[in-house]
Amino acid sequence: MAYAYINTSREDGVGIVSLNRPKLHNALNFALMEELVGELERLDRDEQIRVILLTGNDKAFAAGADINEMAEASAIEIMKYDQFAVWDRIARVSKPIVGAASGFVLGGGCELMMNCDIVIASETALIGQPEIKLGIMPGAGGTQRLTRAVGVRKALEMLLTGEPITAKQALQYGLVNRVVPVESYYQEALKLAKQIAEQPPLAVRMIKKAVYKADDVPLQDALDYERNGFYLLLASEDRKEGMQAFLEKRKARFTGK
Ligand code: CAA
Repeated sequence: MAYAYINTSREDGVGIVSLNRPKLHNALNFALMEELVGELERLDRDEQIRVILLTGNDKAFAAGADINEMAEASAIEIMKYDQFAVWDRIARVSKPIVGAASGFVLGGGCELMMNCDIVIASETALIGQPEIKLGIMPGAGGTQRLTRAVGVRKALEMLLTGEPITAKQALQYGLVNRVVPVESYYQEALKLAKQIAEQPPLAVRMIKKAVYKADDVPLQDALDYERNGFYLLLASEDRKEGMQAFLEKRKARFTGK
């Protein structure tokens, strides 16, 4: 598909989506978000794709929602447009989203990064929620996902000062998985995405869903969910293949059935 604000490609079962609005540090205008989420949903349905890689460029993952678009709009216009409804669809993507983030990761950019399941950051990443400096607050999950990821105190410091943290701090806070030099963050993320793409797709999907239950479901209910997932996967062809391959001392070939 031809897009105005994103680029797409694919490699070894990985669907790659790059934000492509470099002159504005990948500011997330409404049209970009529609394209991005539409493509994520398309990749989620694509049988050839097992993992999604989401990235920006070396200078910016994304510098937030497009301030030009918001500056003139009234509260009622924005509410009626329901700007953030499109974001809710990202959380329903069943395949893992690996983020490769460098440079500015601000506001909506940080919220988008937090919608990725695993994040490889470059040493140059600057990550924050500067909305308070604009007289507003985050609207795409910034107060909620950040708090769940880093805890109340660190989240409050970031949200109330609007100051970004470095990639190194983000690693200490548990907001990203790894920090690597800017020259290698993309390749490192792609390598990780390909590694996950080799795993049995049904198990990958069930594990992703089960892990997020830890955030908002009572423990016993979440354990029941996990157990049912375990039983369900025992009925898959990939389970037969995985166990057979182990016994035959060969690499398993998973088909997602
Ligand atoms: N929206 C619109 N345009 C943006 C933008 C944004 N979020 N971020 C950067 N740009 C534009 C700049 O206006 C500039 O455009 P022009 O060349 O036309 O002047 C261009 O991108 C390059 O930016 P700068 O010249 O400012 O580059 P810099 O290196 O000096 O600074 C920056 C980079 C620190 C990221 C700075 O641009 C900045 O502070 N941007 C705004 C960050 C921000 O406040 N994000 C939160 C937005 S609100 C939000 O995201 C709400 C939500 O919850 C969804």
